[in-house]
Amino acid sequence: MSVTAGVRVRVPAKVNVQLAVGAARPDGFHDLANVFLAVGLYDEITVTPADELRITCTGPDAAQVPLDHTNLAARAALALAERHGIDPRVHIHIAKDIPVAGGMAGGSADGAGALLACDTLWSLGSSRDELLAICAELGSDVPFSLIGGAALGTGRGEQLTPLEVGGSFHWVFAVADGGLSTPTVFREFDRRTEGTPVPAPSADPALLDALRTGDATALAGALSNDLQPAALTLRPSLADTLTAGTTAGALASLVSGSGPTTAFLTKDPDAAEEVAQALLTSGTCRTTRVATSPARGATVVG
Ligand code: C5P
Repeated sequence: MSVTAGVRVRVPAKVNVQLAVGAARPDGFHDLANVFLAVGLYDEITVTPADELRITCTGPDAAQVPLDHTNLAARAALALAERHGIDPRVHIHIAKDIPVAGGMAGGSADGAGALLACDTLWSLGSSRDELLAICAELGSDVPFSLIGGAALGTGRGEQLTPLEVGGSFHWVFAVADGGLSTPTVFREFDRRTEGTPVPAPSADPALLDALRTGDATALAGALSNDLQPAALTLRPSLADTLTAGTTAGALASLVSGSGPTTAFLTKDPDAAEEVAQALLTSGTCRTTRVATSPARGATVVG
């Protein structure tokens, strides 16, 4: 008789194709119009029953992943277990392929993946809304990792409206050495905008139209990130990476989220390979990855 060994969930990375940032709120967060697009780079989260909650991680960047209860995957398991009065005795294994660099929501992916995996392992059958509510407690980007595809995030980014995507988009990601702290980037945004009125953030209709029609050239013209000037102030060398990618033929380039990962939209998969090669040769990044979007959200695969 076979025994179910565990549950495996695949969960994608993301890029922000628009990140419009409003003024700081009393709770310290910022209202956003955050257009997320899931990209086909995945972490796989496997949960199996164990004597106690523990995390292991494999993959090229595994050494940079915290294995204690600060990991969003552990926090997800604890939050779900607490809600249902369960003892969270589970081994969470993260097979990490999403670069650990910042800007691609790799930690958020692991939180959403572990949540779905534990919910399945423990046969809880939580509704999507129940899972999304826990995701929102874990972090602003975690709900999107669960649903994938494309979505507009409002509030602090956690209130999602799914968006239609009419085609495939081909990306290159340049992974920088070291990270950038998200709170520090938001603080730099506040410093730069101090004394000037910050308009309420709203989604760009031209960008939503480009997604809907699958038009890469139109999307390239509409990409925007209000955090980019702050990220470039904190990490000036990212400007060289952005220039190297556009010189190599990318349709457009931008900092992904709060960085330091930079994203390059290309016209097709061949152009993506060429831009990735040129970025590597330029010496302006640690490594590169090529990926296509949109991608499915967290999915049980085994
Ligand atoms: O929600 P999350 O834990 O990902 O947020 C990390 C930090 O990023 C927050 O503590 C805050 O400093 C900043 N942030 C923000 N406004 C948002 C989302 C994040 O200021 N909408």
